Amino acid sequence: MTRVFVLNGVNLGTLGQRRPEVYGNLTLNDIESLLREEFSGVDLEFRQTDHEGEMVGLIRESADSGGLILNPGAWTHYSYALHDALEAVDVPKVEVHLSNVHAREEWRRHSVVSPAVDAVVAGMGAHGYVAAVRYVLSRDDG
Ligand code: DQA
Repeated sequence: MTRVFVLNGVNLGTLGQRRPEVYGNLTLNDIESLLREEFSGVDLEFRQTDHEGEMVGLIRESADSGGLILNPGAWTHYSYALHDALEAVDVPKVEVHLSNVHAREEWRRHSVVSPAVDAVVAGMGAHGYVAAVRYVLSRDDG
């Protein structure tokens, strides 16, 4: 069974309560359930952490998986540590944002993580995760 990592970074554990007008009403558990239902044949490693070092460890763990989907939260905009961890992992990688970061504050328009991933999805809410998993699976065996 293909193993796919779906990793959520800082503050994403508060989805559902945190600015629902921007991030939607779904909690992270709702998003996990949705993915498990949609991809029942995939071994999903769905995780969230507020600790950057733990996230680096999870990214490294994904090295022998079928792919990695990451919503880094605010780390997107300044974490060279996540960039370097991603760069070192040779699996299909997608950066996901629930909101359209390009339509928000200026500082959200820049991602230091994007150069180290294959694709970026922003502004599609939970659909972005579904699209990202589909893409990763499509890369299986080239
Ligand atoms: C986010 C966008 C980031 O700018 C923000 O800091 C988040 C969530 C998104 O999913 O839209 O925490 O990654």
